Amino acid sequence: MRYGHFDDERREYVITRPDTPLPWINYLGNEAYFGIISNTAGGYSFYRDARLRRLTRYRYNNAPLDLGGRYVYLRDDESGEYWSPSWQPTQRELDDYSCRHGLGYSIIGSTYKGIRGETLYFVPLAENLEVWRIRVTNARTTPARISLFDSIEFCLWEALEDNTNFQRNYSTGQVEVEDGVIYHKTEYRERRDHFAFFACSAPLAGFDTQREDFLGPYRGWDRPIVVERGAATDSVAHGWQPMGSHHVKLELAPGETKEVIVLLGYQENPKDDKFDPPGSQTINKKRVKPVIARYLQPAVVERVFTDLRDYWTGLLGILQVHTGSEHVDRMVNIWNAYQCMVTFNMSRSASGFESGIGRGMGFRDSNQDLLGFVHMVPARARERILDIAATQLPTGGAYHQYQPLTKRGNNDVGGGFNDDPAWLVLGVAAYLKETGDASILEEPVPYDNQPGTETPLYEHLRRSIQYTLDRLGPHGLPLIGRADWNDCLNLNCFSETPGESFQTTENKEGGVAESVFIGGLFVLAANEMAAVAERRGDAAEAALAADAAAAMTKAVETAGWDGDWFRRAYDYFGRVVGSKECAEGQIFIEPQGMCIVAGIGLENGMAEKALASVRERLATPHGIVLNNPAFTYYHLELGEISTYPQGYKENAGIFCHTNPWVMIAEAMADHPEAALDYYMRINPSVREEISEVHRCEPYVYAQMIAGKDAPTHGEAKNSWLSGTAAWNFVAISQWILGIRAEHDGLRIDPVLPADWGGFKVSRWFRGAKYEITVHKSTGVTGRVARLTVGGREISGNLVPLPTGPDESFDVEAFVG
Ligand code: GLC
Ligand code: GLC
Repeated sequence: MRYGHFDDERREYVITRPDTPLPWINYLGNEAYFGIISNTAGGYSFYRDARLRRLTRYRYNNAPLDLGGRYVYLRDDESGEYWSPSWQPTQRELDDYSCRHGLGYSIIGSTYKGIRGETLYFVPLAENLEVWRIRVTNARTTPARISLFDSIEFCLWEALEDNTNFQRNYSTGQVEVEDGVIYHKTEYRERRDHFAFFACSAPLAGFDTQREDFLGPYRGWDRPIVVERGAATDSVAHGWQPMGSHHVKLELAPGETKEVIVLLGYQENPKDDKFDPPGSQTINKKRVKPVIARYLQPAVVERVFTDLRDYWTGLLGILQVHTGSEHVDRMVNIWNAYQCMVTFNMSRSASGFESGIGRGMGFRDSNQDLLGFVHMVPARARERILDIAATQLPTGGAYHQYQPLTKRGNNDVGGGFNDDPAWLVLGVAAYLKETGDASILEEPVPYDNQPGTETPLYEHLRRSIQYTLDRLGPHGLPLIGRADWNDCLNLNCFSETPGESFQTTENKEGGVAESVFIGGLFVLAANEMAAVAERRGDAAEAALAADAAAAMTKAVETAGWDGDWFRRAYDYFGRVVGSKECAEGQIFIEPQGMCIVAGIGLENGMAEKALASVRERLATPHGIVLNNPAFTYYHLELGEISTYPQGYKENAGIFCHTNPWVMIAEAMADHPEAALDYYMRINPSVREEISEVHRCEPYVYAQMIAGKDAPTHGEAKNSWLSGTAAWNFVAISQWILGIRAEHDGLRIDPVLPADWGGFKVSRWFRGAKYEITVHKSTGVTGRVARLTVGGREISGNLVPLPTGPDESFDVEAFVG
């Protein structure tokens, strides 16, 4: 069953009933000011850091779900009836309803008894504010008198404090109201030099800034007393819960539409110019007033909304495919690319499942996210790489996370996840292949952000490789440390204390736990390193990396091979994990995917066997589970993985991030049907028609779909902020459709099922435009046999680099 439909033309998902199984969210903002918004206008906003600069409140795990938002109320002043055009929070049954989630904006509207209310929410490019453009239309045959109330609840900035420190918070809230603009200035008198503003374009009948006055004692957002009575109280908050609401009265002739613009924004003042007049305690509004005045104009709003749409057209235009499969096209061209940009902006901070309080930027996560957006925003990817690398430790190791505001490694989360450094090599290699910008390797980058420790970025990569070589176990496989890609495989942790973090608890010394997965990952990274070193004329490093990759391949093929699949690890005591010998957790997906992606076993039959085992033991109609059999007991020696009930998360959930590794492996092993089949099983657009089972948004990937051992098999969780986005984008665009940026050109290497025809791609690459046509008849399989560029035949399947700027090339590739 569906709750809406795709509108590919407008690049929107249109939700047609408000009571989706879960809040289906979207993101506002592009650079510094961000928000999440659900299909019923729930969500919150923040400036740069969702914990430290939270503008508005939101309540996770509330009942009903998704409370706290950008709510508008309409009241029919004849009858006294009131409702919310976004359905929440009043939940009045509406005559019609739709939410159009687009790229960086949402339009939520409905009709109730002949009055249409529709709000466009978006953040203009390069501004620290959000616009709500509200349109109210009288579709009746008689005049209407309508009261409009907007509303938001301010967060006292630090979101964790705001949720916990009530003895202080209930006394600190402060606002100013001037010319109808509500300024939230809690803590501005002392150490903060920022405030929030909430402004409205229409003449006001009144306002409110104290929550209890607006809602009424013991009332919720579903029936504010002010809205019920149709009269604001002009309350000024002192302590308690500062909020903002404007009351606007609209007289609408039959057929008439009126537009009201509402702004919510963030503003900073210089430390020594905070007050006006100086010496007073009144906010200096000199800087913000012109901004407010500008965006309260309808023509400006219209123009900057068009700019936002053009911005996305530009970004997405870098890669567009036309395959004839709507599921492939809309994901590659619109939603998967968009999700990759959202992971770039948000990392793992704010979503329906990430509270904005918990996690900084992951070292490994950020490097992987890069794979999905480097072609769209290469300059920002460059900056991101340098930020990440600057948190690296002199040993080549890494803090597991860093804080976006300070860009420093996060000591609380620690380090010692022994896969982390290898991802930096992969991130940089992807950047180099996309841009050819070898100058990045020369950038001086410090270690642990310590000035004076700078070396060229290239040296960071070298140390990343060396980090693994310095930490090999008895089988010649990499020691796992705290964990590898699987944060929950904690082989040195042995935690018996409730509530203790598996990721940061002091590890037990003296073990020999090794990871086959890191073995595969290392081979991939070391081969990338060899290629980078060779191009740089560093033959010694190139040889070292290539030799190390070869030695690791041997170790994986011997100690890492179980007969029918790759083993997962060796535990603290040197006992095998992920083997037929084990009672639970005999086979894991990660090494099957990653080892083959690294090229291991493709020549000697191991890959074939491993992939057959994946199909037999791990594949389900909803995707490939992480391990089998699931753990049904807590295994002290394995850690968090065995704490999850079977079928969820890292314990035999369909951890979607890992599935594309198998898709790529299948493509590399020349199994096009299998590659695409796995792709389609977790493709959100394909799953749209089982939305009542999948439950998460049908336009983006979720981190997890419940596995076959769970009672809710097929149910997705943790949508949006997941490495799943980048890796699926890589799998479909680079390995199945086969359009791949390489150091020396653009590889055209599709691996397509027999029942597919050809397809077209347009791709900007190194400043040139490539119009690519892949010719293939249905029934035919195989790789590209002939390639022409600009009508001239070339050998192989690598389109050479452009030689000048602004070139464009017609590329024809013939399969079979
Ligand atoms: C989460 C983490 C990621 C990790 C994965 C598997 O998605 O963000 O870093 O690799 O879980 O544990
Ligand atoms: C938990 C989750 C894992 C995530 C980690 C982050 O272990 O299961 O997915 O990566 O927390 O700290």
